[in-house]
Amino acid sequence: MRLLGRLRLRSLQTKIALLFFAITLVAFSVVYFVVVPALRENLEGQRQDDVTAVARDTSSGLEDVMGGDISAPRLNELVRATADRADAQVTLLGVQRSGPEGRAIEFYVISDSRAGADIAVPESVAVRAVSTDRLATKEGPADAVAAVPLRYRGRADWVAIYSRSLDEVNEAVSLIRAQVLAAGAAALLVALLGGYLIARALARRVRRIERGAEAVAAGNFIDPIPVDSEDELGQLTRTFNDMQEQLQRVDRARREFIANASHELRTPIFSLGGFVELMQEEDADEATREEWVEQMRQGVERLQKLAVDLLDLSRLDAGSVQIEASPVDLGEVVRSVASEFTPAVANRRAGLDLDLPAGAVEASADRERVAQIMRILLDNALRHTPEGVNVTVTAERENGRAELRVADTGPGIPKEDAERVFERFYTADAVSGSGLGLAIAKELAELMRGNISLSSDPVATTFTLVLPAAEE
Ligand SMILES: Nc1ncnc2c1ncn2[C@@H]1O[C@H](COP(=O)(O)OP(=O)(O)O)[C@@H](O)[C@H]1O
Ligand SMILES: [Mg+2]
Repeated sequence: MRLLGRLRLRSLQTKIALLFFAITLVAFSVVYFVVVPALRENLEGQRQDDVTAVARDTSSGLEDVMGGDISAPRLNELVRATADRADAQVTLLGVQRSGPEGRAIEFYVISDSRAGADIAVPESVAVRAVSTDRLATKEGPADAVAAVPLRYRGRADWVAIYSRSLDEVNEAVSLIRAQVLAAGAAALLVALLGGYLIARALARRVRRIERGAEAVAAGNFIDPIPVDSEDELGQLTRTFNDMQEQLQRVDRARREFIANASHELRTPIFSLGGFVELMQEEDADEATREEWVEQMRQGVERLQKLAVDLLDLSRLDAGSVQIEASPVDLGEVVRSVASEFTPAVANRRAGLDLDLPAGAVEASADRERVAQIMRILLDNALRHTPEGVNVTVTAERENGRAELRVADTGPGIPKEDAERVFERFYTADAVSGSGLGLAIAKELAELMRGNISLSSDPVATTFTLVLPAAEE
């Protein structure tokens, strides 16, 4: 697992480094294979245009003397002068036509500005100039050439070739190319190294979170991972810390729950065991035995209630409590549950008033669950108060909600307890009870999209269940 993770991260590291490398490579390839050739073409084109322009400008000087009477040295001088003005090599060619209709064309050199130099007659462009009777050009690779036909009495019997070497352009381009290559190599190195370092830093942070997750998965909680930046990984770290905190809370709650539940189970079972032993070993009189049986009955009752409550809670936790919301008349539920409590009310010498409106108070809820909450509240109001207390149950519609209130005139719940009575297993007094009733009531209320709240002062304690009202 660990090795696999390592390799995966390694591959992330390699991937990022390679990505940096590839991006740089593409950038420099574009420069090398597209930008540099375009630059070369541009420069060559410019040179060609220059040659064409000067050829146009200066060839008339040559044309003027052609066909006339001019000595060879003077002609050479004129050619050289023209070459100087044009800043190009100028070659004067004579045209010899032969064959049918003079189609076959040959050239012979009359004069060249660089007497003695190698003269390579660029035939194709000269032929084009003569046959089209207009200026023709030829570009590269070694030079830019413009050929101008020179006319005498309407016939082009000569061609002036202007050529300018492209050496300078080639040199400049080669230099640029070499520099691009060098810069590219350096950039690639930096990209590879930079990519590797950045990726390593990232991978290290990811690995830290991974290690944390592994620890949590193995059941060991760790200190929060320090959040050292606000980027996505920082956010991830934060989320991870939150998740761990949440898990820790859940874990603690689970442990507490198990500890509490087993404690609640153990107490009545031990006491039951004690009574069973007494019954077997002691030779008690009838009255005492009856007393013991009564104690045992209470113990069994407590265990039964606890078992039911625990089952309810586990169903709530598992999300398997089905809520069938339908119109429920709270008044009817109150009357029915209150009648179940008649013996308890009598036992406690309590007073129970039902304050119900004439009509129905319809809530959208699950009847059985509302009755269960009502039982929990009424049971509390009778058991956690002194004898002779007055309990009032009210049902009414308010602000589009249906409300059920159970109020008693008991001594109330101290403030610090009031905040916690809805917690599981929380009990605020010495009256025996598991402390699960209100926790269950609250969860049920919330499942029905309602809520339950407590207001208490030294003369009255009121629990209010608010539920969505049914459509009228
Ligand atoms: N009407 C009440 N008057 C005074 N204290 C109450 C009342 N209802 C609940 N309590 C307090 O809230 C605690 C939690 O109630 P509950 O969750 O029903 O647990 P249990 O009844 O098993 O103790 C009780 O132990 C009690 O101290
Ligand atoms: Mg209770």
